[in-house]
Amino acid sequence: MTEGPMRTPAAVRDVTYHLHPSTNLRQLESEGPLVISRGEGIYVFDEQGNRYLEGMAGLWCASLGFSERRLAEAAYRQLLELPFYHSFAGKVPGIATELAEKLVSMAPPGLARVIFANSGSEANDTAIKLVWYYNNALGRPNKKKIVGRHKGYHGMTVATGSVTGLTYVQNDFDLPRGPFVHTGCPHHYRFGRAGESEEAFAARLAGELEELIVREGPDTIAAFFAEPVMGAGGVIVPPSTYFERIQALLRRYDVLFVVDEVICGFGRSGAMFGSQKFGLEPDILTCAKALTAGYVPMSATLVSRAIYEVLLGQSDKLGIFGHGYTYSAHPVPAAVALETLRIYQERDIVGHVQRVGPRLQAGLRRLSDHPLVGDSRGIGLIGALELVRDKGTRASFDPKAGVGAHFVKRAQHHGAILRNMAGDVIAFSPPLIITEPEIDALLECASRALDDTLAMVREPGLIV
Ligand SMILES: Cc1ncc(COP(=O)(O)O)c(C=O)c1O
Repeated sequence: MTEGPMRTPAAVRDVTYHLHPSTNLRQLESEGPLVISRGEGIYVFDEQGNRYLEGMAGLWCASLGFSERRLAEAAYRQLLELPFYHSFAGKVPGIATELAEKLVSMAPPGLARVIFANSGSEANDTAIKLVWYYNNALGRPNKKKIVGRHKGYHGMTVATGSVTGLTYVQNDFDLPRGPFVHTGCPHHYRFGRAGESEEAFAARLAGELEELIVREGPDTIAAFFAEPVMGAGGVIVPPSTYFERIQALLRRYDVLFVVDEVICGFGRSGAMFGSQKFGLEPDILTCAKALTAGYVPMSATLVSRAIYEVLLGQSDKLGIFGHGYTYSAHPVPAAVALETLRIYQERDIVGHVQRVGPRLQAGLRRLSDHPLVGDSRGIGLIGALELVRDKGTRASFDPKAGVGAHFVKRAQHHGAILRNMAGDVIAFSPPLIITEPEIDALLECASRALDDTLAMVREPGLIV
């Protein structure tokens, strides 16, 4: 196993030509990327043949692992049959109709129509545009502000980067700040006050949201965006009663609820959608990633019947519903998505997550005993360890110490790929097909990486 630097010929060639997304470019130039060349089950292999248990399913997406032949065959069949067609101006690839029907039948009640795109960012971007179009149609030109949450992640396009509540997505990109506002993050361990119960914390956050709505003016607030479990912000599971209180406010002030299921959708939380797990009633739901098991790009934005009726009326008025992409409802990812959804149902993927998820969660909770672990959390097959300098005060390490990054390198050395998020939070989101022995192996790598990291932080003079 290797933990980098990886200055292999392929890595050197890559850094000569490739501008990597979401990466420290200087560090990449000096260390080179880990070049992954193939996958099998929940494992990926680098060009030297070293094997890694992919504890993040790539970017929370490879739900069926890295070698599901049925998906490759579905793509190949579709490429032979109809490799491209579009859905503009009265045409449609037939397979897209099947997928739309299937998605609506699986989605939380009330969602009636679906429009497709290629990525989670585009699905959320579409949701933002639909919210604005909807309020224009209703003659509410001022009701346009979108509320995101600190540490929420909804993508990196111009608009979704603005809804995202993580500054590294925004710094120096000059994203428009105008119609985007943010409210508090429901991270009880980090932002709850001493002795504050989850319920009291949730009530305080709801109060904060209400204050924001009233301060900005309810007639200016159009929609609230939330992930059921926050992913990139640090795997934050909502505190008890949080969403009940938030939803009551959204109804009171006539604010649309956009539920971003890009990570939670299709079983990750132990329900088909995070909305079902947490009792959410979305007006708009977005999904991507596990929609195609990550094999080909595709995303979807589902809207309620009431919203659809308004879009319909506005299209009458303007002569067109002027939104969509060349690859909206592309037949190849549509075929892969349909096959993916069939596999989820045939193999009862939700039941599987319910059966094996507790093994991951129990293992993570056990790691709370480690001197470096301040908090361990999660649900289903998503989880995190938050590394802290002082368990008593919950003080974090100085980000410059690179503690989380060191952990990830050591985990890689021991054969598992995990991800370090801001604040030394180590995320776990393995393929949904993972078995209990494989979960144990993943936890063992994490445990060894924790010990290695503890040795690092105990080196004299490092930690201040
Ligand atoms: C919750 C959530 N929403 C949206 C996105 C953006 O998706 P994409 O990277 O496909 O644009 C992500 C990506 O990780 C995500 O986690």
